[in-house]
Amino acid sequence: MTDPLSVHDFERLAAERVDPQIWCYFEGGAGDEWTLRENRAAYERWRFRPRVLVDVGEITTATTVLGTEVSMPFLVAPIAYQRLLDPEGERATARAAAAAGTIMCVSTFTTCTHAEIAAAAPGLVQWAQLYVLRDDGLTLWHLDEAVAAGCTAVVLTVDTPVLGRRERDLRMEFELPQELPLPYVREVLGEGNDTPASHTPFFSPSVTWRDVERFATHTNLPMLVKGIATREDALLACEHGAAGVVVSNHGGRQLDGAPATLDALPEVVEAVEGRVPVLLDGGIRRGADVLKALALGATATMGGRAPTFGLAVSGEQGVRDVLELIRLEIETGLALLGCTRPAEVGRSHISRSVAYDPRA
Ligand code: LAC
Repeated sequence: MTDPLSVHDFERLAAERVDPQIWCYFEGGAGDEWTLRENRAAYERWRFRPRVLVDVGEITTATTVLGTEVSMPFLVAPIAYQRLLDPEGERATARAAAAAGTIMCVSTFTTCTHAEIAAAAPGLVQWAQLYVLRDDGLTLWHLDEAVAAGCTAVVLTVDTPVLGRRERDLRMEFELPQELPLPYVREVLGEGNDTPASHTPFFSPSVTWRDVERFATHTNLPMLVKGIATREDALLACEHGAAGVVVSNHGGRQLDGAPATLDALPEVVEAVEGRVPVLLDGGIRRGADVLKALALGATATMGGRAPTFGLAVSGEQGVRDVLELIRLEIETGLALLGCTRPAEVGRSHISRSVAYDPRA
């Protein structure tokens, strides 16, 4: 076989290489995995309206997210337990993200500290994902550690008051090794709590909009709210000072039956009215997926699983390869759409796919 030519190739290789008892956790979703499939399927319900005879001799995939210039509108989303896939874990992903010139958002369930990641990847723009634990002191300590390590934004994940029921994990009896470092949560877990489901009681199920302001004030960093799927919550996020919203259903891992993120995006964009950037994650495997999200109003996108496939296949180099493939596909797609930069991609570059009707 040739070297992997697409993120799909990396996904197949990763599925072959990683122990199935571990892979289930990274690949799986909640319930019937309908939302997991919908996240992908939604991209196929839209088609491009390419414009031609535009001078695309000079193209850039670079764009700006919350004042930070990134090499492309694709950021690395938070993914837990990365040392299960590669001994360097988050440090490998961080080096690759820094080399690619994009932002990495580090999970609360990271297996390396924010400081270790910063030291491993000088120049990385690091964001911190925040889960609110029942132990308020530990949550604030995590935020302080993120600030001290130079994180430039906090991404509050709001779709996880309890953990979705993921049958693949249960069927495969997915367990975390006791020796896996979990610097920001191990203290509350104690001995014997070795599955993600057994972590649930340690998350606070009582986080509300008031806490958004409280945690944002604690750090003074911009706080994005990740897990928005409706216009109502998009408006509340703006009212409560969110610096940005991330349209997300947690990669289909939380509420099965939640809409594909691409389907939820237009109503969120409409409600936000340009006040803050709208990011989207969920199912991105191609540069074309990123361009469709931009056409529907996203400022940028995030991807968790795609970089993870690279990490599982060949560590840092694998993540570098995945990020470069996505960047290259965005670049080619921009040229073929008749655009010279991400900000030029708009609603006129896309239309809803319609089923073929032979009578029409
Ligand atoms: C998950 C949590 C840890 O989706 O974010 O598994």
